[in-house]
Amino acid sequence: MSALTESPAWTALARHRAAMEGVRMRDLFAADPGRFDRFSAEAAGLFLDWSKNRITAETQALLLDLARQQDVEGWRDRMFGGEAINLTEGRAVLHTALRNRSGRPVTVDGKDVMPEVSSVLERVGRFVGALRAGDWKGWTGRPITDVVNIGIGGSDLGPVMATEALKPYRHPQIEVHFVSNVDGTHLAETLKWLDPETTLFVVASKTFTTQETLTNAHSARRWFLESARDEAHIARHFVAVSTNEAEVRKFGIDPANMFGFWDWVGGRYSLWSAIGLPIAVAIGMERFEELLAGAHAMDEHFRTAPLERNLPVILGMLGVWYGNFWGAAAHAVLPYDQYLHRFAAYLQQLDMESNGKSVDRQGNPVDYSTGPVVFGEPGTNGQHAFYQLIHQGTQLIPCDFLAPVESQNPIGDHHRILLSNFLAQPEALMRGKTPDEVRAEMSKAGVPAARIEALVPHRAFAGNKPTNSILFRKLDPATLGALVALYEHKVFVQGVVWNINSFDQWGVELGKQLASAILPELAAGAEAPAHDSSTNGLIARVTAPAA
Ligand code: F6P
Repeated sequence: MSALTESPAWTALARHRAAMEGVRMRDLFAADPGRFDRFSAEAAGLFLDWSKNRITAETQALLLDLARQQDVEGWRDRMFGGEAINLTEGRAVLHTALRNRSGRPVTVDGKDVMPEVSSVLERVGRFVGALRAGDWKGWTGRPITDVVNIGIGGSDLGPVMATEALKPYRHPQIEVHFVSNVDGTHLAETLKWLDPETTLFVVASKTFTTQETLTNAHSARRWFLESARDEAHIARHFVAVSTNEAEVRKFGIDPANMFGFWDWVGGRYSLWSAIGLPIAVAIGMERFEELLAGAHAMDEHFRTAPLERNLPVILGMLGVWYGNFWGAAAHAVLPYDQYLHRFAAYLQQLDMESNGKSVDRQGNPVDYSTGPVVFGEPGTNGQHAFYQLIHQGTQLIPCDFLAPVESQNPIGDHHRILLSNFLAQPEALMRGKTPDEVRAEMSKAGVPAARIEALVPHRAFAGNKPTNSILFRKLDPATLGALVALYEHKVFVQGVVWNINSFDQWGVELGKQLASAILPELAAGAEAPAHDSSTNGLIARVTAPAA
């Protein structure tokens, strides 16, 4: 048994969990008219209702005891204070400094990083301003109309998600595109419609060694030079965002056209840095700063609010409750806003790359679950796809429902219909439908008794399925900033409780190493590979001449 699972707060929760067996949310709501007020709070423009969970006041108190026992507050302060809490890489974790609007210094190794943060932000601002004003011209003197971000993982997912989410604010003449996959189709399909004279590439890579990104960037360079025919023109059409100046130079991009960031910014936490440049191109610098300000407002809330009303802490601890005490292995994120259609994909990296760990900070194997499988799609599409399993399947899948009160596109009755679904699904998941309710409904419809009894088991819903509802006025930049920061801190809280390092990602390395070993084996005339028979057999099929 680990120290965590033997600890007082954990064992108290385990006992409480047994006592909660059979407790139904329906009954908790019926017994307590103040439940919604007790289990809801607002911060940074986000209203969170967590009343539809399998919790009582005692559950919440015990969960917060666990948070305190694991020193969530202490680790939080260490993170904001610039301590090297990413122990395996010996790095500070300071994405919060990138959106620090407080004027307070943030020090890493005794040095205030804020002047550098502001100076890069200013450079990004000048560049973005020139592009958006049409003053940054391509090699033939025409203004840039298309910006292609080449990056993957954290150098792609955040910028794509935010650019999509904030589409209503985009520049009318500049289109921003994203190429991430090393599958040539991604680049080819993107470039098909673009004019090299008016296209600018942003090569975004923290390390500037990522195979997919460099392969795409080299192919983009060739595509560009086929038209421009002079390497001198690269300076007007390629910029880089990276922490690695030497590799940027090697690629052939002038460091004058490079926007830097720092090793204390994790890839999946980097959209607030110069990695957010494509977002700023799309929505403008002022709006980008609103995005930062929204995230900062959530940071301040996370830093200062009591745990009982602290939204990231509440969300994080509810995840611990279901993952560790109810056996939930997945978590669904369901935005009722089409603009958030890439939000779940973004959260997958944030959550699963951060907390997909099975040893604790000291290197011991854990004997408890860590991060869940995160998935989701915009409502109402998900309703017609996978909600069936959430309603009536055998797994417990806690869900977050998100929605704006106001639509950016108020057409007819669409938004009211959307919101009615946003409200109905958590209600249905919580209430379920009892066999007696099914009987009453069917007999009212005149269904014969024998038929009713045959269908009751199929048409009854167990209910008691947990959900959180997150409501906000409108999906504007500040709200999006707060929303992303909410989830960042939720993931942080969980990592602290599980005593894991949420800020490394060694698990992605093995596949990269093996791919580099296999690559030469795919060349014509390569020696027979020596892997397992499955890998050998597949390589043989891949390399066999077409029949
Ligand atoms: O997938 C592994 C990873 O290292 C991510 O953590 C990172 O966001 C991504 O690759 C891209 O890395 P880079 O920005 O260095 O190209």
